[in-house]
Amino acid sequence: DWTPGHVVDDLVTAIREQVGEDRVLCALSGGVDSSVAAALVQKAIGSQLTCVFVDHGLLREGEAEQVEQNFVEATGVDLVVVDARERFLEALAGVTDPETKRKIIGEQFIRVFEQAARDVVEDRGDVEHPVKWLVQGTLYPDVVESGGGEGAANIKSHHNVGGLPDDLQFSLIEPLRTLFKDEVRQVGLELGVPEVIVWRQPFPGPGLGIRIIGAVDAERLEILRRADAIAREELTRAGLDRDIWQCPVVLLADVRSVGVQGDGRTYGHPVVLRPVASEDAMTADWARVPYDVLATISTRITNEVEEVNRVVLDVTSKPPGTIEWE
Ligand code: XMP
Repeated sequence: DWTPGHVVDDLVTAIREQVGEDRVLCALSGGVDSSVAAALVQKAIGSQLTCVFVDHGLLREGEAEQVEQNFVEATGVDLVVVDARERFLEALAGVTDPETKRKIIGEQFIRVFEQAARDVVEDRGDVEHPVKWLVQGTLYPDVVESGGGEGAANIKSHHNVGGLPDDLQFSLIEPLRTLFKDEVRQVGLELGVPEVIVWRQPFPGPGLGIRIIGAVDAERLEILRRADAIAREELTRAGLDRDIWQCPVVLLADVRSVGVQGDGRTYGHPVVLRPVASEDAMTADWARVPYDVLATISTRITNEVEEVNRVVLDVTSKPPGTIEWE
C-alpha cells in the first residue's frame, strides 16, 4: 500500500542503482519539486550530490534564506549559492516589456547556472567519479504533458536547464516522475523538508520580475517584497493558504495616485492583490477572500509600506485574465 515511507525507500534504492558512484548536480529553485527531488537524492547518495542555488534577487522575503539555511540544515546537502542579484538587475535595467523580461531572466539564469555547473564539475568531480547526472523535479503530470518520452520532460519555468552546451551534457535523474503534487508533498514531509517549502504555493521562475509592472530595480523590488510579505502573512494568519491557489501581489510601479495620510498629501503607487482559486492553473477564478482579511491586508500595507498608498483587488477570472500580470 502507498505510504510516503515505502515510496521513499523504493525511490532511494532506484536512485542508488541508477547513479552508482557518479557525482550528481541539482539546480534548487526554492520550490517544492526541486527541493523534494534534491532531498530524496541526498538521502540516497549523500555527499555525491551538489546543489546549486542561483539567487537572482527576484525572490520573495525569506525565500533565499529558506533554501540557504533551513533546507541545508534539514537535509545536509552540499550547497553552492551563486549571488547573481547584481547581474540580473543590470540585465533588466530599463526593460518594461513582459516577454523581454522573461527572456532576459531565462537567459541570465542559464548562463549563471552553466558557469556554476562547470565549477562544480571541476571542483567536485574526478575521472573516476565524474559529475554525470542532473536532478530534475519533473512530476507525473509534466511527463504526461510532454509526451512521456525519456528525458522529454521540460520544466515549465525558465529553470529548465535542458539546453546546456555540449561540454556540459548530463543524464537526467527524475525521481519524482511517477508522483503527483500531493504525493510529492507527503514525500517531502517524510524526508523532513521544511514545511514552508513543502507547502509553498506556486511561484513563477521569473519571480517578482514579472510582478512589477514597469522596469525592475532594487527599490521597486524592496517595495513589492514588503507588500507581498504582509499579504502572505495575513492570508496565512487567516488560515486561507490551502483554499487559495496563490495570491500574486503586483506593483504598478509606473502608476501613481493621490492619497492622504496624517496631515499630508501622498502620491504613491498602487499594489494589486490577485488571489485565485484553481485546480491546475489552466483556469482560475478570483478567490473570495473575506472582506475583513482584505481590510487588514490593505491597512497594513498602506501603513507599513510608505511608497504604497492604495491597495486594489483583481476580480478577473482566467480566462480572460492570466494569473500573473505579465
Ligand atoms: P498564468 O499567468 O499563465 O500562470 O495564468 C499560470 C501558473 O504558472 C505560473 N507561472 C510560471 N511558473 N515559470 C514558472 O515556473 C514561469 O515562467 C511562470 N509564469 C507563470 C503562475 O504563477 C501560475 O501558477
